[in-house]
Amino acid sequence: MKSYKIALIPGDGIGIAVIDATWQVLNKAAAGAGFALDGTSFPWSCDFYEKTGAMMPPDGIETLRGFDAILLGAVGWPKRVPDSVSLHGLLLPIRKAFVQYANIRPHRLLPGVEGPLRASAFDILCIRENTEGEYSGAGGRIHNGTGDEVAVETAIFTRKGVERILRFGFEQARKRRGKLASVTKSNAQKYSMVFWDEVTAQVAADYPDVEVANYHIDAMAARMVMAPESLDVVVASNLFGDILTDLGAAIQGGLGYAASANINPERNAPSMFEPVHGSAPDIAHLGIANPIAAIWSGAMMLDHLGESRAAAAVISAIEAATARGIGTKPGQHKTTEITSAIVAALG
Ligand code: IPM
Ligand code: MN
Repeated sequence: MKSYKIALIPGDGIGIAVIDATWQVLNKAAAGAGFALDGTSFPWSCDFYEKTGAMMPPDGIETLRGFDAILLGAVGWPKRVPDSVSLHGLLLPIRKAFVQYANIRPHRLLPGVEGPLRASAFDILCIRENTEGEYSGAGGRIHNGTGDEVAVETAIFTRKGVERILRFGFEQARKRRGKLASVTKSNAQKYSMVFWDEVTAQVAADYPDVEVANYHIDAMAARMVMAPESLDVVVASNLFGDILTDLGAAIQGGLGYAASANINPERNAPSMFEPVHGSAPDIAHLGIANPIAAIWSGAMMLDHLGESRAAAAVISAIEAATARGIGTKPGQHKTTEITSAIVAALG
């Protein structure tokens, strides 16, 4: 039987419960489709940091490299470890080391879920550049703590980085409704964002079948609220994509439904799948975290592994549960109830 090696990093807070839920659903789907998932769980988290002084061991990246994919819950517990330490010690290094340059996040309403907008028939795929841009980590501080203090954080846009994320976006648009929106702020940022617009035009020449539109980030934020049904694939830089995908989560009913995949399209290192939501320490022990975002991310993992039939079965099972009103209102159902409904819908 075909078997995939999966690294599980539940992480912090509700990450633990939603990965447990996802693992149950994925294993049922795998059994139904005739393949196996061979999981290895890693306790890397803020707990681990408190015990060892690091978010993961020094050879953590090399350990993960041998897996077919990584399933991650959430990282962070700011009262215990500053976010700037926990995220730069675990999540962000994985995205960069494994060149997971395409962070893809679907935004659409599941049946039975009410969003805050009048519009309901939208289906957006946000594609966020995931390894450079505003989150490159290039910068520094001098004269710390004095009146002359200076902080510099430089956004880095490379031709290679910008071109490959746009190309990835065009490929996705081709498989969907043939529309791509490129998001910049080239009216104000005259180097990096003008460069991004130029590269968009250059790559677009290879995709005459895809309809391209350029938006500024502020206008795109308004469009996602006022006319989300006009959008198909949206490609944005690391910071802009980060912000737009929380907006996307909001219009799809909340972070409980927002899935994401950190993809290495060249497949020369594992890709990582994680819900957009964080660790939510405030509700971590209440058993009410919605596992749907994580389970949907798990379906994206199956799809990436080439198990598209099992992936589609998981999505259908999520939809069958929400269509019955399970997991559609915050706190109404326990994590375990939502999980059981999805497992049962898998037949
Ligand atoms: C996300 C998160 C992370 C990000 C944070 C926690 C660093 O907000 O995945 O969207 O911005 O990449
Ligand atoms: Mn975010």
